[in-house]
Amino acid sequence: MLHDLNPLAGKRFLAAAALAGITFLGLALGGWIAPIPALVAGLGLVAGLGLLAWRLGRPAGRGEGGGAPTEGSSSPQAARLEALEALLAGLPLPVLQVDQGRRVTLANPAADALFGRVQIERDLVATVRHPLLNEAVDRVLAGETGQETEFVLAGASERVLAARIEPAPVSGNGRPGAVVAFYDMTRVKQADRMRADFVANASHELRTPLASLIGFIETLQGPARDDPDARERFLGIMQEQAQRMARLIADLLSLSRIELNEHRPPTGAVDLGAVLKGLAAALAFRATERQMTIELGVPSPLPGMGGIAAMTELPPVQGDRDELTQLFQNLIDNAIKYGRPGTPVSVACWRVPQTRLQRGMLAVAVIDRGDGIPREHLPRLTERFYRVDKARSRDLGGTGLGLAIVKHILNRHRGRLAIDSTPGEGSRFIVYLPLAAELS
Ligand SMILES: Nc1ncnc2c1ncn2[C@@H]1O[C@H](COP(=O)(O)OP(=O)(O)O)[C@@H](O)[C@H]1O
Ligand SMILES: [Mg+2]
Repeated sequence: MLHDLNPLAGKRFLAAAALAGITFLGLALGGWIAPIPALVAGLGLVAGLGLLAWRLGRPAGRGEGGGAPTEGSSSPQAARLEALEALLAGLPLPVLQVDQGRRVTLANPAADALFGRVQIERDLVATVRHPLLNEAVDRVLAGETGQETEFVLAGASERVLAARIEPAPVSGNGRPGAVVAFYDMTRVKQADRMRADFVANASHELRTPLASLIGFIETLQGPARDDPDARERFLGIMQEQAQRMARLIADLLSLSRIELNEHRPPTGAVDLGAVLKGLAAALAFRATERQMTIELGVPSPLPGMGGIAAMTELPPVQGDRDELTQLFQNLIDNAIKYGRPGTPVSVACWRVPQTRLQRGMLAVAVIDRGDGIPREHLPRLTERFYRVDKARSRDLGGTGLGLAIVKHILNRHRGRLAIDSTPGEGSRFIVYLPLAAELS
């Protein structure tokens, strides 16, 4: 609802009522001459004018519909006012108006939504209390040009707001006042912080192996110059560290490439059965190193979902083959790394029927029997460099970027990831991918 103290509405009412009165008087006087027809005509006119006065005098913009121009708006000015109010009511930007005494005279619904409820006719601080905002508003009210300020509103959830304050006369009385527009910058600030954190994390991840490389090079140039055993050992460690850096850079590059394309969904049709069979063969060696096996086509872990046992019978999904290979490679690789030696890694596939709201999907679950992941970590697993156990991940050659890559590939594919884990029993990562267009 638009709070309005529109003085024009009252004036219009008075004007229309006065006009109605004068007409009635005129006709009543005329009635002395031709009493009956004049009285009937007069009563009709008064009723018409009264109705008009009521319509004009009704405070526009209140109630349902937020004041869209109504059919009966007879004066162009009234129609324009109503249209302006409708515009303000529909404006997603929170806006309010203050008078010379910093009292709020008008606020739109977006401002109500931002602040809970705007306190009309009270000092701005009753609605939003921050010294930076007050000072900026006061400067404008004192005659300075438009101002901009940014401030943090503490509360249950901290919000960063920017405000733009422009001098503007208060409607109706023409006295100076100001219009304040607010922009919620919370998400922009969060994105800024994430970017800064990401650069810091990436540099840190690269610096560690680099420092170790520099250390070993110096040792080989100095104390270990003539020690063939030490040289062999150190070169082995150096190779490991250099490979770690190469893996990190490869993951960083693929993450940024996927992100760049994220708004453009892939258009190909991918046979996931072939992708999964290829990966099972490629990763079989790593699995046997840990006495593990990869079993494809087990029943769905979700009750009642069945499961497609033959990989040749999977319906094609809409996607990019290389990216989907990278996605499942990361998931199966994690299952091998974090699964208990001697247990199988299972892959289950099933079809999720089309609904009114979404296309038909193919679900693929990668299931391991390992230590599992404590519940509190689940929501953050797909953040870059987030690991449950940093040291363990590094020892296993992880970069901490695998699941972030999975998430971004799924974003691009308009798919979804569900992670479910029972500590002590294992984890399952379920990927949902839209079926190729001609199927759904
Ligand atoms: N199958 C799994 N079982 C247990 N923990 C897992 C599993 N998959 C991922 N994690 C946890 O999530 C973290 C992030 O995974 P990922 O992004 O692939 O990084 P990493 O390079 O460490 O494998 C891992 O460090 C690990 O703590
Ligand atoms: Mg990984």
